[in-house]
Amino acid sequence: MKKPVIGYLYNGRGLGRDEELFKRVAKKKNVETIFINTDKWADSDDLREQVKGCDIVYNSSGDDFLIEIEKTIEEFGKKMIDCSKAYYYTEDKWMFFLKCREHNIPTPKTILLSEDIAEAKKDLEKFGFWPVVLKRIDGTMGEFVDRAETLLGAERVIRKFWKKGKERTPIIAQEFIHSPSYRVTLIGKKIVQTAMKNNKGWKATGVYAKRIKRFPVDKELKMLTDKIMKFVDINVCGIDFLKKGEDWFALEANSAPAFDFFECEREKLAGMLVDLLKEKARK
Ligand SMILES: Nc1ncnc2c1ncn2[C@@H]1O[C@H](COP(=O)(O)OP(=O)(O)O)[C@@H](O)[C@H]1O
Ligand SMILES: [Mg+2]
Repeated sequence: MKKPVIGYLYNGRGLGRDEELFKRVAKKKNVETIFINTDKWADSDDLREQVKGCDIVYNSSGDDFLIEIEKTIEEFGKKMIDCSKAYYYTEDKWMFFLKCREHNIPTPKTILLSEDIAEAKKDLEKFGFWPVVLKRIDGTMGEFVDRAETLLGAERVIRKFWKKGKERTPIIAQEFIHSPSYRVTLIGKKIVQTAMKNNKGWKATGVYAKRIKRFPVDKELKMLTDKIMKFVDINVCGIDFLKKGEDWFALEANSAPAFDFFECEREKLAGMLVDLLKEKARK
């Protein structure tokens, strides 16, 4: 049988630790890897040439920029893990809220704000949850997530987001739930890791969180995760939850989640990723 070939999209200068680990594990599993640095990408013919021999291409980054490259590769007829559609729909925080509501999965109460600031303020007054969490429908690592105590504070946050980011990206307002952040990592719809992120401040995000430890998956969380994975079309997925008392609240789903919460589990996760890509490449 022909050796499977996996394309691996990454950005940054040279291969990082994740890439080196992937390369080593893939080699052990008799898989060839072609690394494609998306920073160096200039011409679509070059890209076509690079992915030509790949059976499947993995996008290792949640970077907004990469999405165009991902779509280009899909246009060439190559299978991508995960697909660009997930970025626009599943990872969109407003869509995730709507899906959770439709499937009876507890999630913080959320509204989509008007792009007219005066209307947005009316929306917030009617919503009536203070403090309120404001976030852009996209964005990662808490960059476009903030909290406001008052209407004036909320207006400041909205203006800040609009000034900092692209022109008037949609913003949602969300009920604040005091809780650490609970990350469930899934590969091929199977839970492979849990990480509770705690921080001094209210926002516990990414690997910057001060204290990270594992937590057990209780029956309720397992049931919710199974339900969520019915509408989340992400193969390599990180779902964030919050917890109030004994109740779980689903917050968002991410593709290409971090594998580096626990150093000792990194290689195991990389192995599972290679196995998944191998299996998908065959189909
Ligand atoms: N409604 C909320 N209540 C309390 N904390 C929240 C809420 N929404 C977000 N957070 C905190 O902010 C962090 C980042 O928010 P999240 O929606 O996961 O966006 P990002 O895509 O930037 O990770 C979460 O991990 C959590 O700690
Ligand atoms: Mg998050």
